[in-house]
Amino acid sequence: MLEGRRIVLGVTGGIAAYKAIELSRRLVLAGAHVTPVMTEAAMNMVGPTTMTALGSEAVKTSLWDDSHPIPHTHLGQSADLVVVCPATARILSDYRTGRSADLLSATLIATEAPVVVCPAMHTEMWNHPAVQDNLEVLLGRGVVVVPPEEGPLAGGDIGAGRLAAPESIFNVIVQTLGAVSGTNATGVIAGSLAGRKVLVTAGGTREAIDPVRFIGNKSSGKQGHALADAAAARGAEVTLVTTVARPSNPAVEQVAVATASEMLGAVTSRADASDVIIMAAAVADFRPKTTAERKLKKADGVPSIELERTEDILATLGARRRAGQVIVGFAAETNDVLANAAAKLSRKGADLLVANNVALPEVGFAHDTNAVTILDADGGSVDVPLTTKATVAEVVLDAVEKRLPPIES
Ligand code: CTP
Repeated sequence: MLEGRRIVLGVTGGIAAYKAIELSRRLVLAGAHVTPVMTEAAMNMVGPTTMTALGSEAVKTSLWDDSHPIPHTHLGQSADLVVVCPATARILSDYRTGRSADLLSATLIATEAPVVVCPAMHTEMWNHPAVQDNLEVLLGRGVVVVPPEEGPLAGGDIGAGRLAAPESIFNVIVQTLGAVSGTNATGVIAGSLAGRKVLVTAGGTREAIDPVRFIGNKSSGKQGHALADAAAARGAEVTLVTTVARPSNPAVEQVAVATASEMLGAVTSRADASDVIIMAAAVADFRPKTTAERKLKKADGVPSIELERTEDILATLGARRRAGQVIVGFAAETNDVLANAAAKLSRKGADLLVANNVALPEVGFAHDTNAVTILDADGGSVDVPLTTKATVAEVVLDAVEKRLPPIES
């Protein structure tokens, strides 16, 4: 899959450096030539011997110890892709400012190849405006960012900042190389959605009770964001209507919304122009009939909140679809999954319905993994056993592409 591709694997000094070993192994098994470059701090985390053994050549650590007189330009120029895994706050800062104090930061400045960075750090550092600013600038320059996940961190803490799974990073690398040269992870042509407009929704809506309280749900937006990133990697023009602020492929236009009604407006105003609409968002079915202007006080007693139905966005889209459009719905179910999903598919007039059983461990809300069955309006179905949300996104897009009519010339 990656035969002959030259990848510089930069490893910086985060606890997650040990996961770079697994990434290197996967890349080499897929046929890539991996040149490991470690910072001094990284060598405190994992041994250079291991990186050398599982890479394709001896690890490089310094601007001065290479047989090549200018190792950073040599590495930068010969690379098809540079990946930094894990990327500490320090390397993101150096890369943003162009401070090339060691071999890895100098290589980043010396390359014109695509660069993938995989940040990993403690939640406080990840949330710091300095880190987020640096990432935003890098995203704006076309750097691909594989965002960290939430989960257990070093020292027993739990929160955002855990390095993305090596499998997900591998998929992003394959996609990124495919976007440059024409093939991607599932073997489809990277430009297979070129010329198509894809609209994706993500996250859970929030319906205000008062200025501080809302009715919400557990959706993390990860599956919708993965779909948007994957569609962009296939060359589509992608708009992501999302309730969640999360870095995405810089080619994706993000539209921030909070409520079901805002999502309805953002989606319906763009629906006619879209060739594909994927409703991955968990839209509230009910909202408070009125929103209190001031915070409800305990002293005023237990409030009785009258609810009303929200609009069903997917059903609205299904009813007013234009010819050739492909509309995809999602169904998070806890029981009678396939029967409920099949009923939703026809009730809402969708082409495809992606059903998941959120009662199973590791599936759906907030996880980085998912297991789904994709039902087709023509009666077909595809089972996707437990895998990353990035891989689920690829299989959903494969099913979408099968239903898309050819582009009229
Ligand atoms: N959906 C929508 N608008 C709503 C509710 C849901 O567009 N007001 C979409 C979701 O984005 C998803 C699909 O409909 O693609 C199914 O959502 P789900 O909440 O599972 O369906 P419901 O209509 O709520 O069905 P039920 O209450 O029977 O589970």
